[in-house]
Amino acid sequence: MKNYNITLLRGDGIGPEIVGEAVKVLDKTAEKFGFTVTYTDALLGGCAIDATGVPLPQETIDKCLASDSVLLGAVGGPKWDTQPGNNRPEAGLLGIRGALGLFANLRPAVIFEPLRDASPLRSDIIGDAMDIMIVRELTGGIYFGKRGTFEEDGVKAAYDTEKYNVNEIERIGRVAFDMAMKRNKKLTSVDKANVLDSSRLWRETMNRLSKEYPEVELNHLYVDNCAMQLVRNPKQFDVIVTSNIFGDILSDEASMISGSIGMLASASLNSSKLGMYEPIHGSAPDIAGLGIANPLATILSVAMMLRYSLDEPAAADAIENAVAEVLKTTRTPDIYTEGTKKVSTVEMGDAVCALIKKVIAYG
Ligand code: IPM
Ligand code: MG
Repeated sequence: MKNYNITLLRGDGIGPEIVGEAVKVLDKTAEKFGFTVTYTDALLGGCAIDATGVPLPQETIDKCLASDSVLLGAVGGPKWDTQPGNNRPEAGLLGIRGALGLFANLRPAVIFEPLRDASPLRSDIIGDAMDIMIVRELTGGIYFGKRGTFEEDGVKAAYDTEKYNVNEIERIGRVAFDMAMKRNKKLTSVDKANVLDSSRLWRETMNRLSKEYPEVELNHLYVDNCAMQLVRNPKQFDVIVTSNIFGDILSDEASMISGSIGMLASASLNSSKLGMYEPIHGSAPDIAGLGIANPLATILSVAMMLRYSLDEPAAADAIENAVAEVLKTTRTPDIYTEGTKKVSTVEMGDAVCALIKKVIAYG
């Protein structure tokens, strides 16, 4: 029987609770689909600072590199706010992205039909569905560029640098074009080419790449216009590809529009299919330990893992179908509406497990 080695980075706040439920669902799925999973725990973020003094111990990098895939809960919390910038939980997150070479960040922003009313946008703007895939470059740009703090004529100053080379733009571009080919063959590249040199290179490179993908319709938007278009008419978007910092901002905007922030998963991939999967929401320290966190985004992250790293698409479908089904009747407090059953984190995990089915395709 096939066995997959998964490193678990449970992290801080609600992280351990939601990862626990995702593991339960993965085990149930494995049992139905005939594979096994072996788990290794590793420390990242605040819990790593408490145990070792640093947010990303070398041992964590080694364990992740030795595994087939990585599942992350969430990191951070007020307890570590006083740490210096380079020793905060967030630095651990950036560090692991860099160390594993996770340059491609896939952030789907979808609306789950039973949660349609949760979108802050009017239903005529949202339409029947919203299904946007943001492809964010994750290991370059201003997050990883040269930076410093210095004195300028006796005044304190600081700088950060946005830099991309053609290879970095091409490899994220290919991920996005390939994604567009698998979806609706429509790709929007977002930049600030009216101001930034790095954006002009970005646009030039995307245009060149598009010749290799004649079936994909490529268009370009400036980031400010894109932010506006997302709330004016989100239906116009299918796949969006953009830089690290623009992707950070636009993916938060898109997730809010979907109204399903507690529901959204993400994948960060390197060039050899090793991936780190995580919910897009944070560690929610205010509700940690209360047993009320919504584990569905983490459970859906496991579905993405099965699809993108482990090549088990039928198992991924089974999880996604179970989540779609469970939402009709069962809700954690964050998505509760009258007429549904309000459940705890653990009860939600159990409810999803009970709905995992192996569908036999006929014909
Ligand atoms: C995200 C987060 C991180 C980022 C922070 C926590 C460093 O906002 O994953 O979007 O900016 O990339
Ligand atoms: Mg962000």
